[in-house]
Amino acid sequence: MKITILSGTDRPGSRALQISRHVKSAYERHGVEAEVVSLEDFPVASVAGGRYGEAIREVEAFRSRVIDTDGIVMVVPEYNGSFPGILKLFIDYLPFPEALMKKPMAFIGEAAGAFGALRAVEQMQMICAYRNAHIYPERVFLQRVNSVFDHQKGITDPVLADLMEKQVAGFIRFIASVGRNL
Ligand SMILES: Cc1cc2nc3c(=O)[nH]c(=O)nc-3n(C[C@H](O)[C@H](O)[C@H](O)COP(=O)(O)O)c2cc1C
Repeated sequence: MKITILSGTDRPGSRALQISRHVKSAYERHGVEAEVVSLEDFPVASVAGGRYGEAIREVEAFRSRVIDTDGIVMVVPEYNGSFPGILKLFIDYLPFPEALMKKPMAFIGEAAGAFGALRAVEQMQMICAYRNAHIYPERVFLQRVNSVFDHQKGITDPVLADLMEKQVAGFIRFIASVGRNL
């Protein structure tokens, strides 16, 4: 089993990327191969001007790192009560309809504020459901991320750390049982 952890922003020094790296270690502790892919590396310059539906080598290389695995964990920061625009741009350059079809997906929200990207994650779930992904129902929200997450130590709040661990273990079982089989 191999999964992708997609860091959902191109903001340099983002919490999303730090969290993604900690989540990768958690999956590896369960014996699952995990790769972190950061939207910092999305080839924005190659899609300037709107090149929807065209074969763009850099975009294909980037997206295959995300979608050619058994499952995707999306780490979603909250920007203006929603998810970052780069995340939607990435989705708009996925091949339709097959890219997320029956793809197991799990979500982690994180925000400086009190809502922990709840709206951002729910809006993203709606889009991924539209693309017929299999959505793992147990989400994790890191509210006030600067107090509950430490770059070195990971999630410092014991309740949230426990929820994260449950999501990791549960998502592995979900991929094993649901996969793309249904
Ligand atoms: C453009 C922008 C918009 C933001 N809007 C919100 C917001 O609506 N609510 C909130 O709690 N935090 C907001 N933040 C702060 C982020 O939640 C904060 O930077 C957090 O660390 C997650 O983002 P990161 O992964 O880029 O670090 C915003 C940050 C940026 C850069």
